[in-house]
Amino acid sequence: MDSRNLGLRFRVAQGIVREAGQMAAERFRRRDELVIERKGRQDFVSAADKECEAFVMSELLRIFPEDGFLGEEGGARTSGSGATWIIDPIDGTSNFLAGLPVWCVSLGLVENGTSIAGVIYNPITEELYAARAGGGATLNGKKIQVSKTPSLDQARMGLGFSYRRPVQEHVTAVRACLEASCEYTRFGSGALGMAFAADGRLDGYYEAHINAWDVAAGLVLVKEAGGWHNDFFGGRDAMSKGNVILAANPMLAQPLQSLLKIYPAENLPG
Ligand code: IPD
Repeated sequence: MDSRNLGLRFRVAQGIVREAGQMAAERFRRRDELVIERKGRQDFVSAADKECEAFVMSELLRIFPEDGFLGEEGGARTSGSGATWIIDPIDGTSNFLAGLPVWCVSLGLVENGTSIAGVIYNPITEELYAARAGGGATLNGKKIQVSKTPSLDQARMGLGFSYRRPVQEHVTAVRACLEASCEYTRFGSGALGMAFAADGRLDGYYEAHINAWDVAAGLVLVKEAGGWHNDFFGGRDAMSKGNVILAANPMLAQPLQSLLKIYPAENLPG
C-alpha cells in the first residue's frame, strides 16, 4: 500500500478507535447491566464487545469498502485491496467485566503477512498508542521506544496465558523467567502487554498462543518503537489460528528466544 493510502487509513483508524473506546467505557461504567456469555474456560463476551466490533467494522467498511476485516467476535470480510483490518473490540474482557481498568480497543491493519498500522486505546487511562510502518510509534502523540534493559536479570516480561494451551507450558515459562532472575507480570490484556513492551514499561511480552486480533496492532507498535518480534504471521495460518508471540527489546531478543525456546517457524518441533 502506498504511503498516502496508508496515512489516510492510519488517521481514520485513530478516530474510529477513540470513538469505539468511548462507547466501551460507557458500558464499563454500567457493566452490572451487561449480560455475559461464556465462550470457553475463562473466556467471556458481552454486548459491549459485540457492539464495539460492529461499530468499528461498519465505519471501516463504509470508508474503505475494498479492505478486508477480521474481528474477535466474528466479523469477517474478504479483502479486495490486499489489506485486512483486525480488531479486538475489548482486549482484556475479563478485566473489563471485573471492573479492572486494564483493557483496550486494539485495531491493526495487516498486508502480506505484515502489520502495517496499529492503534491501541485504553479509554480509562486515556492512552492511545499508534504506529504505522516507517512512521515510528507514539503514545498520545509522543514518540515511544522500547526499553534499553541489557540483560534478563534486570528485565520484566509481560507473560500471558489462556486455556487454549496446557497450564504446564505457562508454568514452565514463569519458572524459566524466575530462574533467570527475570521478573514477570500478567496483565490479562495481550494488546496492552505489547503496547507496554513498545513503550518500555515492560522489556518484552510472551504468550505461547495468542490470536491475531490480540497482537495485530502491537506487532507494528513494537517494531516501530525499535523492538524485535517473532514472525507471527509466518509459517502457519496465524490469521485464523493464532501463533506464539514473543516481543522484546533487541538486546533481549536472543536470550529470550533461548530461554523460552522460541523456534523460527520452519524449525518448530512437532
Ligand atoms: C485475551 C487477553 C489475554 C490473553 C489471551 C487473550 P480477550 O483476549 O488478551 O491477556 O492472555 O490470550 O485471548 O479475550 O480479553 O479479548
